[in-house]
Amino acid sequence: MSRIYLDNHATTRVDPVVVEAMLPWMDRLYANPGSTTHEAGREAKLLTENAISSIASHFGVSNDEIIITSGATESNNLAVFGLCQHPRQKKRKIVSLATEHQALLGPLERLAKSGFEVVYLPVQKHPSSQAGIVDLQRVADAVDADTALVSVMLANNEIGAIQPIREIASICSRFEVPLHTDASQAVGRMPIDVEKLGVHLLSFSGHKVYGPKGIGGLIVHPTSVPIRISPQIVGGGQQMNLRSGTLNSMGIIGLAKALELAASFCERDAKLVFELRNLMWSRLSTSVDGLLFNGPSWDEERSTPTLDQVNSERRLAGNLSLCFPKVEGQSLMLETPSLALSSGSACTSTDAAPSHVLRAIGRSEDQARATLRVGFGRFNTREEVNFAVDLLIRAYEKLSAFVA
Ligand SMILES: Cc1ncc(COP(=O)(O)O)c(C=O)c1O
Repeated sequence: MSRIYLDNHATTRVDPVVVEAMLPWMDRLYANPGSTTHEAGREAKLLTENAISSIASHFGVSNDEIIITSGATESNNLAVFGLCQHPRQKKRKIVSLATEHQALLGPLERLAKSGFEVVYLPVQKHPSSQAGIVDLQRVADAVDADTALVSVMLANNEIGAIQPIREIASICSRFEVPLHTDASQAVGRMPIDVEKLGVHLLSFSGHKVYGPKGIGGLIVHPTSVPIRISPQIVGGGQQMNLRSGTLNSMGIIGLAKALELAASFCERDAKLVFELRNLMWSRLSTSVDGLLFNGPSWDEERSTPTLDQVNSERRLAGNLSLCFPKVEGQSLMLETPSLALSSGSACTSTDAAPSHVLRAIGRSEDQARATLRVGFGRFNTREEVNFAVDLLIRAYEKLSAFVA
């Protein structure tokens, strides 16, 4: 086995069926979907619009509620700046979580510098079985009539914690506060109906769901709260002036196909990654004394779950963030070059600072440095996981022998 890919939170392999769907757009279907003066352009427009309808139906929204972007970073920027910097925005407070992704923290930090009050709510800490999950009372205490936006991620990219978004939505509704969620890690891994979730803005990305990179979207679903977004990219006026630029037809086709596959593979994928996670944890925790996992607990007795059981967990089934005693995650990765693993978020994997997410759940700096993040996905097998576990145990035994 030459290489085993276990970094499915950073990105996922493009599904071969998605590749197949995109190929004609590299070759035959090259017309601009905005060029309606000729047949080729009209064909590109029709196919692109059909794909956008299919994406919209995945989330239970209408076509005009989706703004196609280059991915979740852009969607988060559009949601946060678009809403908070709108000329009619009078409110000055934003409520979010300490464990958000940099793609949200970056825009929030900039708004804080321009005079917004940004409240970062803590999450529950270990040894709580709900480590990584926000306490709803904290949300209720923070949200008030001066709140312009609440932004809480649906599923965490490092520890898989799933936030109680529906309950947060009902708190927001008391003050008619817009609720944004970064759902990049959740889309395709759990069913998402925007209306039922109660959110007004939702960011997602193609490359986390076996689709291509460089494509994603922001759903703007106003329901009872008026949502005013100012565009961040202006120019040709595409997408109702909300995001100018020629539509990335090929990416849109790939994203639509990826979401279609996600819907049909949802149950199979969820059960597979659940079983692979359990397999890795049960083997590693028996061999490595003092091994910990980061994030919410799960029922370790359950071996072959139903989809409802997988979905009832407060964590992504395919996430396993491991904290090894005495040995750094980086050293383990160097010892196991054939395994694609990470120590945290892909965006911060070159950053030596210990993960803000692990610190927020109460891990020490040393524990954060001793963490390895495993992300299981659709293309992983039991054989790969067993092989990876053998390598990790061998590497751990070798490295821990050097530590007093
Ligand atoms: C939770 C979360 N938000 C945002 C992003 C950024 O997404 P994109 O690469 O599509 O900009 C990521 C990807 O690492 C993520 O995990």
